[in-house]
Amino acid sequence: MNNNAIGVFDSGLGGLTCVKELNKLIPNENIIYFGDNARVPYGARGKETILEYARQDIAFIKKHNVKMIIAACGTVSSVLGSGKTSDGDIAFSGVLLPAAQTACSVTKNGKIGVIGTDATIKSGSYGKAIRSIRPELTVIGNSCPLFVPLVENGFTDRDNPVTKLVVEQYLSPLKKEGVDTLILGCTHYPIIRDTIADYMGENVTLISSGEEVAKYAYNMLMRNDMLTDGEEAGTNTYYTSDSVELFEENAHAFLGNSINGKIYKVGIDELISY
Ligand code: DGL
Repeated sequence: MNNNAIGVFDSGLGGLTCVKELNKLIPNENIIYFGDNARVPYGARGKETILEYARQDIAFIKKHNVKMIIAACGTVSSVLGSGKTSDGDIAFSGVLLPAAQTACSVTKNGKIGVIGTDATIKSGSYGKAIRSIRPELTVIGNSCPLFVPLVENGFTDRDNPVTKLVVEQYLSPLKKEGVDTLILGCTHYPIIRDTIADYMGENVTLISSGEEVAKYAYNMLMRNDMLTDGEEAGTNTYYTSDSVELFEENAHAFLGNSINGKIYKVGIDELISY
């Protein structure tokens, strides 16, 4: 048993899709969330910059005495690589292996699509993770750089014409290849899941990387006897490097509810001091 909090971070709000699932699966756990909203998006940046930001994010989360760190960001997970499973003495998971494992177990025709940011797709990280489990599978990736700005700017209605057009543009190569499983390899994408599902059709299974890493973390904590024994509802505490008001306003779409915890600002000066 371990009553320390679970630390979750992302370049922005996308990692809240993991928090939403953690709250559902293990409601008694305390969660510390950090969103680097002042520096989002990470996905269009170079590898060295993303690694440096990730190092600072992890150092900030570690200050809160957490029992596990979740990189709920496809971009950070991709530059760190799927081999990374621990951070010193703290359990660690990115989104690659959890999403890859699920995709490998649900595909029937052996064709898996992966969509993510430029950095994620260029790294080939999901393909490597999938082939480490099932080398015979075909993986087809496509980067979708406009998805994050669409989500961040609220173009999220199922029938939004702009989003529908962009979805068609990015996903038509994957549809043509006949993938039967599609990994939403960026934690922002579940917010436009319905539009993606409408375009891909009901025979394609969509996999949310944020949800999968939450399930993976739950299993990892359970197997290692690290779940809390607290019987009361846990607390969520949020930190953002940008405006607290904006975080509160926009978090709703990712959590499916109004925000359920205190939000604090972390200055960039503090982050770069790590
Ligand atoms: N949530 C990030 C991810 O999962 C995407 C946003 C970004 O580019 O920073 O890749």
